[in-house]
Amino acid sequence: MPRPFSRLMRRAARALPALLCAVSVAGHREGLASDCPGYRVAHFADTPHGFSAALTLAGPPCNVFGTDIGDLLLHATYETSGRLHVHIEDAARAQYQIPDAVLPLDRRCGVEGGSSSGGLRVKLVHSEESGVGFQVLRGSEAIFDTAGWPLVFEDQYIEVTSRLPTDANIYGLGETPDWFRRDPRNTTRTLWNRDAPDPFRENVYGSHAVYMELRGGQFHGAYLHNSHGMDVVLTDGAIQYRVLGGTADFYFFAGPTALDVADQYTALVGRPSQIPYWALGLHNCRWGYRSVGEVDQVIANYSQARIPLEAAWTDIDYMDARRDFTFDSSAFPLAGMQRQLAELHARGQKMILIVDPAIQANGSYAPYARGREMDVFVRRSDGSEYIGQVWPGYTAFPDWFAPNASRWWAGELGRFLDELPVDGLWIDMNEASSFCTGSCGSGRPAGEVPELPWLTDRPHRPVNRSNPLLAPPYAIHNPEAELSDKTIETTALHANGVAEYHVHNLYGLMESRVTRDALVARQPAARPFVLSRSTFAGSGAVASHWTGDNSATWLDLHVSIATVLDFGVFGIPMVGADICGFAGNTTAELCARWIELGAFYPFARVHNNMDAVPQELYRWPTVAEAARRALAVRYALLPYIYTAYQDAVERGWPVARPLVFEFPAVPAVADNDRQLLLGDAILVSPVLAEGARTVAVFFPRGRWYDWYDHSALAGADAAVTLDAPLEHVNVHIRAGRIVPVQHPAMTTAESRCSDYELIVAVAEDNTAAGRLYLDDGATLASPHRWLGFAYRDRTLWIEQQSGSYTVPRPLAKLTLLGVLGVRAVAVNGTAQACTIETAGNSTMVSALHIDINAPARISLL
Ligand SMILES: *[C@@H]1O[C@H](CO)[C@@H](O)[C@H](O)[C@H]1NC(C)=O
Ligand SMILES: *[C@@H]1O[C@H](CO)[C@@H](O)[C@H](O)[C@H]1NC(C)=O
Ligand SMILES: *[C@@H]1O[C@H](CO)[C@@H](O)[C@H](O)[C@H]1NC(C)=O
Ligand SMILES: *[C@@H]1O[C@H](CO)[C@@H](O)[C@H](O)[C@H]1NC(C)=O
Ligand SMILES: *[C@@H]1O[C@H](CO)[C@@H](O)[C@H](O)[C@H]1NC(C)=O
Ligand SMILES: *[C@@H]1O[C@H](CO)[C@@H](O)[C@H](O)[C@H]1NC(C)=O
Ligand SMILES: *[C@@H]1O[C@H](CO)[C@@H](O)[C@H](O)[C@H]1NC(C)=O
Ligand SMILES: *[C@@H]1O[C@H](CO)[C@@H](O)[C@H](O)[C@H]1NC(C)=O
Repeated sequence: MPRPFSRLMRRAARALPALLCAVSVAGHREGLASDCPGYRVAHFADTPHGFSAALTLAGPPCNVFGTDIGDLLLHATYETSGRLHVHIEDAARAQYQIPDAVLPLDRRCGVEGGSSSGGLRVKLVHSEESGVGFQVLRGSEAIFDTAGWPLVFEDQYIEVTSRLPTDANIYGLGETPDWFRRDPRNTTRTLWNRDAPDPFRENVYGSHAVYMELRGGQFHGAYLHNSHGMDVVLTDGAIQYRVLGGTADFYFFAGPTALDVADQYTALVGRPSQIPYWALGLHNCRWGYRSVGEVDQVIANYSQARIPLEAAWTDIDYMDARRDFTFDSSAFPLAGMQRQLAELHARGQKMILIVDPAIQANGSYAPYARGREMDVFVRRSDGSEYIGQVWPGYTAFPDWFAPNASRWWAGELGRFLDELPVDGLWIDMNEASSFCTGSCGSGRPAGEVPELPWLTDRPHRPVNRSNPLLAPPYAIHNPEAELSDKTIETTALHANGVAEYHVHNLYGLMESRVTRDALVARQPAARPFVLSRSTFAGSGAVASHWTGDNSATWLDLHVSIATVLDFGVFGIPMVGADICGFAGNTTAELCARWIELGAFYPFARVHNNMDAVPQELYRWPTVAEAARRALAVRYALLPYIYTAYQDAVERGWPVARPLVFEFPAVPAVADNDRQLLLGDAILVSPVLAEGARTVAVFFPRGRWYDWYDHSALAGADAAVTLDAPLEHVNVHIRAGRIVPVQHPAMTTAESRCSDYELIVAVAEDNTAAGRLYLDDGATLASPHRWLGFAYRDRTLWIEQQSGSYTVPRPLAKLTLLGVLGVRAVAVNGTAQACTIETAGNSTMVSALHIDINAPARISLL
């Protein structure tokens, strides 16, 4: 008979001080759920797609962190062939649940006659000691198993515990900077969106209660659909959810591959949206540019250094008094910004500006006055306007639940974009961040400019422990004095009457959606680009993400790989970390190594804090050289990366992948976050240590071709030490793959105008395969073309898989890795004029002119 988790924890008290701390921080009541009665089944019924059960409390309420709810309903539904839904809700349906308008789930009534989802089955289990539980089974293996732990279902506390194998392989659960494989013995993952500078193992900007588990060579996944603050705790042998409200709304994904889980999860919460092709270019930003002229110099200096620059970003510096939708009339005058935008566009480059949600509470500031008129701001519990503090001083916060909010926001964005039609928007500070605790601007004299709280030594306000929204009985591990710190107070009210406590984690998702909708309404044909700091499940459908305020340290360089991989699990594949580090002074060596890695983030942006030394990539000769070399690889790979991104759009597959997703049977890669794969064919092995000029990295069994010299490395499921001079990043092509490339140039548009080349990296069996996705890269309804490539028997087949987009450029070159003895080339049996060269074990066929809008059979003679 398994022991209740909390007893297990009590016994483990000395071994696990950090976990126990959860209990002692909560303080008021000891012992989590051990004395709770659990539930028993009062009524059970089979349904067409699963079953349902009425549950009632099996004994006297324990009221451990709130008030036990007596009557529950459990619905188990085989929703699709890969997805099982187990929802335990209060029978009265009074607990807060995320509305579909906020996060439109793919609701399915179920698989007809279904008794399994991709091999997953669910059954109820009972025990005398702990009441009813459920098991999700794959064959005879329970992949989620609450048997033996009492379900705790209270108004402000839900506890669900499931057995895990010892030393489980768990990925996901965040947003928290940490190693990619979560420590299965000692992880407390807190989900409470917070503006914090990427502290290791603390909760930051987003909340994603989804994980993937690798067990016995197969993956499965689980997602808890709940917006409340929570801790998810991993101890050896169990995962425990401790949630501050809502319902126990679980979805399970059958896998069996990691890509299948990503597909099944994003089918539920929303597929990543298409991005404009240019978004894959290199972006540069810094906080602290002093004038539009300085940004002009930055743009010119990138060009002078022959480092590709796709988009010039400006942070809050451009604003008048740091207020949205304004321009600093001396340093960043509108006319100067318009001129800069026109010049960027003339060169095929882009401009992106920052916009924060907080609006200066100032009746003379028109966006605020209009917002008040339309009643769009968050209120205090007494009905008055909630006034926090952000960059412009005292601010109101848009209430995305207010009926007029999206219309008002679209109107403000529209006025701004009419003046300066920038190419994308960067929505920051949307946790939402506020510098003071509570409605600190209420009752202050008009015109007062508040001091920044961190520059004062005012003590923190006393925490009101008798208000259960401010100090819920169970205290999650949010590392602040209270939940309301750095954000909107949990007692604040939204237009639908719901307190911030319940919906805090949704703020960034909701802002992303109204922003995207506003951009699409303004230009219905164009793909918008929105970069959001705060995210939630489903954000991938409405925004891209960067990992926030990291630091220029070697640790953060390494951790960035893990966080980028996390967002692949979260269904937000367009993600990257600030290249060269945001906070603190970078060094030439760190910055060189960072661009060598960052050139392979799906979203590649250099960004820097105002008090740090400048770190544009041209600032040091070594960094400039490292950047030119690494970005030449990225820009060559753009057709391939764009194809990988389309796999995210269509199937949710991450663009940046850990080795374990592609090689799940190799135990040594389970915790590998030192390397990353782009798609399934390109392996990047960056240097992550100061002073290193070699790198010891893992190569799975099989042949791996060096990107630069085409030499073949025989992978043997073992580490290999590679040379890694300062300006060089190791990139390998996986044998058996065909990788489409173009000629790298200074902008993505220029690269896209070059002819295509296929790198055919043949495996030991002399075969290779690949794909290429093409469309106009700019509009939402573009025609497309999917091409397939297959190489065998010295013949390369170009297959037309779907679509009617006309590819303007021909295939001009074949690089055949591991192929020798080519004397002539024929297309459909007709000999072609071409140039054939060999080097080492590879053959290059150039000066071809093959139309890829038709199928073709290319024979190597
Ligand atoms: C558990 O993790 C916490 C937080 O990362 C750490 O402080 C603590 O030392 C760890 N405990 C053990 C036993 O490893
Ligand atoms: C750009 O380069 C010029 C010439 O080297 C230099 O004087 C200037 O300071 C640079 N400006 C910036 C913003 O990088
Ligand atoms: C919406 O805004 C209009 C003014 O444009 C205002 O009259 C109306 O009361 C607002 N509606 C709500 C529900 O706040
Ligand atoms: C309020 O807005 C007006 C108009 O933009 C501006 O002149 C004034 O300085 C603002 N007040 C504060 C406190 O920023
Ligand atoms: C604390 O919260 C309770 C419950 O909302 C309220 O009645 C009380 O006035 C608050 N105390 C203070 C000091 O604000
Ligand atoms: C960064 O460098 C600047 C200029 O050298 C220096 O003033 C500042 O103190 C440095 N910052 C840190 C955090 O070391
Ligand atoms: C060519 O391939 C052979 C056989 O795999 C290998 O022994 C040889 O080292 C390769 N040559 C080069 C230059 O890579
Ligand atoms: C090759 O042959 C196929 C099938 O007959 C035909 O559809 C295609 O147009 C030809 N391609 C070229 C490049 O000639």
